[in-house]
Amino acid sequence: MALVENNALEGRFAIVTGASRGIGRAIAIGLAAHGCGVMLAARDEAAMEDVRGEIEAAGGRACTTVCDMGDEASVVALVADTLKAFGRLDVLVNNAGFGIYGPMESSNTTEWDAVMAVNARGPYILCREAVPHLRKQSLAHIVNIGSVVSVKGYAEQAIYTASKHALQGMTKALAREVQSDGIRVHALCPGGVDTELVSKARPDLDRSVLMHPEEIADIVLFLVTRRGNAIIDEISVRRASSMPWA
Ligand SMILES: NC(=O)c1ccc[n+]([C@@H]2O[C@H](COP(=O)([O-])OP(=O)(O)OC[C@H]3O[C@@H](n4cnc5c(N)ncnc54)[C@H](OP(=O)(O)O)[C@@H]3O)[C@@H](O)[C@H]2O)c1
Repeated sequence: MALVENNALEGRFAIVTGASRGIGRAIAIGLAAHGCGVMLAARDEAAMEDVRGEIEAAGGRACTTVCDMGDEASVVALVADTLKAFGRLDVLVNNAGFGIYGPMESSNTTEWDAVMAVNARGPYILCREAVPHLRKQSLAHIVNIGSVVSVKGYAEQAIYTASKHALQGMTKALAREVQSDGIRVHALCPGGVDTELVSKARPDLDRSVLMHPEEIADIVLFLVTRRGNAIIDEISVRRASSMPWA
């Protein structure tokens, strides 16, 4: 029997940020393939339309909203647009993110503010706006995509690392806060996945040893289709060629 049944998410609706490419695209396609209606959110409308076309061609349901996670009004509007399109919200995947890398002494506060706005402040706003709607379901899920740097630190990644630690902290606090409301809040923290982001951040890595975005999507699917009372909070997932927590 498949781990996740084909129609496991029938009648449920999700927001996936950063759905225009990479991990977010794979998550959106994976959710839709299991019956979930998906609101795709990112800045690149043309790329999102391609993802929407792909989902619809496979018989799934998707809408798009142009959203800049660094802009509060845009993030607030994303929840409103989703409710207008679908009438309910069951799953929120905070996946959009980016990094600026380099030595501390050549970084600046503009870079700090930009990364924190998208990777930490945006997901905070989205969680804040989504929770009242998620609470209406008997079981709902938030999946925040962290990173190995949610719990570790690497040279020349101070700003990105700080943003992912912030997201991790918020995730832990919110998980406890809404636990009794039937909302499960998960931090999913991958190592190297073969996307644009990693080819910029780690051009030294051999792409053949990286994980595929679909592998991360499979874990999201598992999390949002689980039945039972167990609470899964932090999940670390690493490429096979790296030491798991090195
Ligand atoms: N790849 C890895 O090895 C890896 C490892 C650990 C964690 N992660 C995390 O996984 C998540 C997805 O990354 P990825 O590897 O798939 O990277 P990616 O291919 O570069 O995709 C990033 C996504 O985030 C969106 N995004 C970036 N800035 C945005 C903004 N201001 N507003 C709205 N959307 C924005 C992009 O869409 P638009 O450009 O269209 O806005 C794009 O869809 C990120 O949070 C990243 O930190 C990745």
